[in-house]
Amino acid sequence: MATVIPSGDVLGAHIEGIDLSSPLSEADRALILRAFGDHGVLCFPDQDLAPDRHKSFAANFGSLEVNVAAGRYTVPEHPEVMILSNMVENGQAIGLKDAGQDWHTDMSYSATVAFLNVLHAIKVPRRDGQPLGETRFANMCAAYDGLPQDVRQHIDGRTATHDFEKFWEEMRRRPGSPRGPMTAEQKRQKPPVSHPMVLIHPVSGRKALYCNPGYTMRIDGMPEAESAELLAFLFEHQLSPEYIHAHHWAEGDVLAWDNLWTLHYAVADYGDDEPRLMRRCQVMADKVLGTPDRLPSTA
Ligand code: SIN
Repeated sequence: MATVIPSGDVLGAHIEGIDLSSPLSEADRALILRAFGDHGVLCFPDQDLAPDRHKSFAANFGSLEVNVAAGRYTVPEHPEVMILSNMVENGQAIGLKDAGQDWHTDMSYSATVAFLNVLHAIKVPRRDGQPLGETRFANMCAAYDGLPQDVRQHIDGRTATHDFEKFWEEMRRRPGSPRGPMTAEQKRQKPPVSHPMVLIHPVSGRKALYCNPGYTMRIDGMPEAESAELLAFLFEHQLSPEYIHAHHWAEGDVLAWDNLWTLHYAVADYGDDEPRLMRRCQVMADKVLGTPDRLPSTA
């Protein structure tokens, strides 16, 4: 049976004694699900995971998404496995180069939000022997607990609007962005959606602040100026240093994280000649929430 080794940090644990290329036992599945609720960010080191096994492992926890931003950057025959990379082969980018390079929560822009991201590190950039391209995480249960009581009362029971286009346009404005304008089809697939600002985590039962600078546009039913001021406060608060955990990658890591109570940010501190290659599956929260399209509300 697998063993959970907590990082001792605000998030994170290593899961040892498990080979993800084999089917999970029910006992290991239950242990890993519990560990997502307790630690949020789980590292399974030294994994050799073909795309079909990557999908099988991820699918233990919910339906797999075919990402609306994937375009041609998927593994042939496996549209649910997206390639994130700065590598160029035969003059063509092999993956999405700038995925996740600012603070966000995956799929908060979807009617059915994400439970997990499952990344497999194939190539990790290094300089002077040190790994680059870390991924940072922020703990939204701790952030909720750390809010002043009057702010907690103000957001409990409220919803906010999330929009895929917000992050897309933010990335597009960056110099050298490979992104074009969103297509009509992308807009049709991902219209703005509303979700509760505070949710009860389905595994831990803890309350989590559910908003993020990447996708959250406004607090519903609140005057625009008040909404903007409160969101600015929440965005600053949720990224306080005491809530942050960093994962430093090694080749073979499978890192899986729970988007219901974390934000993340892929740090682009490496150059075009320092290759980074990740394969990613995204797991929707349909199974863990037991409902296809709504987060549990605190209202
Ligand atoms: C992501 O946001 O899913 C990408 C994270 C990473 O590449 O570190």
